[in-house]
Amino acid sequence: MREIIMNIVIFAVFGLLSVYLNTTFNLMAIDNVILAVIVGTTAVLLYIFTKDKRKYRKGIEHGSARWGAREDIFPFMDFYSPQTPKNTSNTKSSLSTKPTKPPKVIIPNKIAKSNIILTATEGLTMTSRPKLPKHGRNKNVLVFGGSGSGKTRFFGMPNIMQMHSSYVITDPKGELYLFLSKLLKRFGYDVRVLNLKEFDKSMGYNPFDYINKEDDILKVVNVIQNSTTENTKSSADGDFWTKSEKLLYMALIGYIKFHVKDKTLHNMNTLVDMVTKMEVRENDETFKSQIDKDFERIAEMHPNDFAVRQYRKFKQGAGKTLKSIIISCGVRLSVFDIAAVRRVMEQDQMKLETIGDRKTALFIITDDSDTTYNFIAAMLYTQMFNVLINRAETKYASNGNRLPIHVRCILDEFANLGKLPNFQRLISTIRSREISACIIVQSLSQIKEIYKDSMNTIISNCDSKLFLGGDDEETLKYLTRVIGKETIDTMDNSETKGKSGSFSKQYKKQGRELMTTDELARLDGGKCVYILRGVPPFLSEKYDIEAHPVYPFMQKLNKIAIQNPMQQANPNRRPHQPPQHPNKLLSSQSIKQSHNLNTRNKNIHNPTRVNKKIKGGNQL
Ligand SMILES: Nc1ncnc2c1ncn2[C@@H]1O[C@H](COP(=O)(O)OP(=O)(O)OP(=O)(O)O)[C@@H](O)[C@H]1O
Ligand SMILES: [Mg+2]
Repeated sequence: MREIIMNIVIFAVFGLLSVYLNTTFNLMAIDNVILAVIVGTTAVLLYIFTKDKRKYRKGIEHGSARWGAREDIFPFMDFYSPQTPKNTSNTKSSLSTKPTKPPKVIIPNKIAKSNIILTATEGLTMTSRPKLPKHGRNKNVLVFGGSGSGKTRFFGMPNIMQMHSSYVITDPKGELYLFLSKLLKRFGYDVRVLNLKEFDKSMGYNPFDYINKEDDILKVVNVIQNSTTENTKSSADGDFWTKSEKLLYMALIGYIKFHVKDKTLHNMNTLVDMVTKMEVRENDETFKSQIDKDFERIAEMHPNDFAVRQYRKFKQGAGKTLKSIIISCGVRLSVFDIAAVRRVMEQDQMKLETIGDRKTALFIITDDSDTTYNFIAAMLYTQMFNVLINRAETKYASNGNRLPIHVRCILDEFANLGKLPNFQRLISTIRSREISACIIVQSLSQIKEIYKDSMNTIISNCDSKLFLGGDDEETLKYLTRVIGKETIDTMDNSETKGKSGSFSKQYKKQGRELMTTDELARLDGGKCVYILRGVPPFLSEKYDIEAHPVYPFMQKLNKIAIQNPMQQANPNRRPHQPPQHPNKLLSSQSIKQSHNLNTRNKNIHNPTRVNKKIKGGNQL
């Protein structure tokens, strides 16, 4: 373009020159047109030979990074407007109704209901099929934040309060359940709880209910083994024991699942009991325990049965070896042999397959100070992903393999779950089934420690990254690199003194990180950085949970429950009935903790409240 303009200018100059020559020297003999062509051609040739062949990218020589503005987030977000119809639950609305221009000002903390909340001013639409495919982003979010940076309060909680999806929530302190369960129930959610902190308050979860084929057995065994192996660096020797144990688990689970007729025995308790009953005599290789006889009976009818084949392989070991394997299995399964755990494992109330059918909130309460039982949560997640993918592909095949209700997994303290088998592959496949994951960690190093080389796949499958503060070096380096460099002008002064002293100024351009690692580490407590794939990063305020339209209503519900637990639990309770606790799935200690949290100083670490007015109900 620049060259064309230059040519036109040169043509014009030489044209004028020729006219001047014509009139001055009256060169009428030469036709004006021929003269113009000759002069023009000479001008073009002159330009070609003298033109500057250097390539300039003025102003962005060393980098083009900049902070995002409202125009940048506009195509990816459903904007809040006071005209938004109340009580809309239509999250799949087409963006065709969207205004064509971004609003002049974005009111902080006013995020439309159909978004994922990321900051006070940025969100991401839940619409899976935006009008322009180039504006499609997956809903996976990676949240980094040191302890107390607000991962739960400024990200987890407000996102559940949006109530546009089903939620499966890891709740490391039980705080999310305490704050949100009543609200969710009131809005028609089917609320379920797996309490791995206080088993006697938990609903039942039976992993055997989700085993339908041999492959499923392997997945369950892998989770149990991965999560209960202290030292993951297995030596060749360690590997032998792990593999031998695996054979026994697979044989026994296969036997229980496919050959025990009584379905009430299809559970972990039966597996524990079978391992306890196993007997091997070192000096008598011909000895047959009851379990050996049971397998022989099955082998007669089905010689090629999966369980029988695994058991045969296991039995190849010498008596002493088999004894050691049985002992290690017993040790590993001892976590299931506690009365309260046995009760939880007895029968299933999780109904994982229905989470995408109707609005459901499944809270998995874990103990953040003791991770012993976290592998049960890992097992549940692994099974849930498989069950839901399968459900989408079978029951909802006519819906493009998409679940009717989007399922959002809020994986708070993701690293404490241990390794979810194949998670790096799952995270890329769940999107198309209407499932998404919010991975909440303190630092990048935590993911690296568990997922090693697969870490990059996990990171790149999260189109959104939210940094809430922290000083982990690896995280800061990663973010600085992703945020990028901008080009800045610098000025150098030099001065020489003496008789013939001089002073000079030199201007030059250089690249500088938009935010250096130390600046990120010093990030203001109320601010956060949001990175969306393909868009400049946003430096914004953290979302203020108290400005969410349902917050006052939620507070009211919780206050009633704490002040008057009996009435809240059952307003129509007859006098002779024993009183029910409002939070019957939590202990009195947890409820006391909830009360303390509610009365805590609300100004601690609160993001700057730009818009303090809460107009309740507007976005609902
Ligand atoms: N009910 C509340 N009222 C006022 N402030 C609160 C309340 N609950 C938490 N906070 C404050 O909000 C900030 C963020 O807390 P939050 O629990 O969300 O952090 P976090 O990143 O999830 O921490 P952790 O890693 O320990 O789980 C903290 O400074 C906390 O003191
Ligand atoms: Mg937290």
